[in-house]
Amino acid sequence: MNIQLPFRRDERPHGGQIFLVGAGPGDPDLLTVRALRLMQEAEVVVYDALVSDAVMELVCDTAEKIYVGKKSGNHALPQEDINDLLISLARQGKNVLRLKGGDPFIFGRGGEEVEALAAHGVPFQVIPGISAANGIACYAGIPLTHRQHAQSVLFATGHLCNGKLDLDWVALTRPHQTVVIYMGLGALPAICEKLMEHGLPPAHPIAVVQHGTTTEQRIVSSTLDTIAGLVTASALQTPSLILLGSVVPLHETLGWFAPETASAAG
Ligand SMILES: C[S@@+](CC[C@H](N)C(=O)[O-])C[C@H]1O[C@@H](n2cnc3c(N)ncnc32)[C@H](O)[C@@H]1O
Repeated sequence: MNIQLPFRRDERPHGGQIFLVGAGPGDPDLLTVRALRLMQEAEVVVYDALVSDAVMELVCDTAEKIYVGKKSGNHALPQEDINDLLISLARQGKNVLRLKGGDPFIFGRGGEEVEALAAHGVPFQVIPGISAANGIACYAGIPLTHRQHAQSVLFATGHLCNGKLDLDWVALTRPHQTVVIYMGLGALPAICEKLMEHGLPPAHPIAVVQHGTTTEQRIVSSTLDTIAGLVTASALQTPSLILLGSVVPLHETLGWFAPETASAAG
């Protein structure tokens, strides 16, 4: 294989550049080859809370590591400050690995970050990562599409905006589709209520998956009318992903991943 190093010193653009890279959902074996190469060459790594410890262990020892993690309601660094930091590092001539959980362009604010870079003339590349939905679907044995069950997939955010849920309930309740809701753990009871109000039956299958693809993966699977109570009783933590649709019960036969025997280092 012809390995081209991303940071060849003789080919640097004037000033530095930013590599916006998806780190996947947690299992380091789900990194792309390109992500791993960049991690082994990076001078500076700017990373979020969702990037797993097992992934961070693969960053080269010499890299400066800057944590800008954001947790719901507790912003370590506001988005504008992260944008300014990246621009400033590039202007110092640094090649910067901006590492984000999952895929940078799926509920990752990666679009806003590269818009800021483009507006300031900072060169950048964007490297996709395996999003939580893809990783969890495979590790939990829940195919996102299936000829007998779902012909489309819808990704939505369950993040509360000013304490309110503002989702397209008509789209979310269409038949023959799988719905994946990111950032919906806190609003799970309200989400279930609204989906039933908009026509989904109480027996509609739903699963909540915590820390998918890692040794801490846990799945609670049930129906719309009972899932909120079960999730509370199980004390599931963030990050958790919600999946809905008739593909969900397939995990009872297709689930293969045994987190308790998986190695934390992959
Ligand atoms: C800000 S979004 C980032 C999504 C990310 N860019 C992606 O493509 O997966 C954070 C949400 O992603 C979901 N998530 C990310 N990683 C996860 C994991 N390993 N297990 C469960 N949910 C995860 C959770 O819903 C979490 O609240």
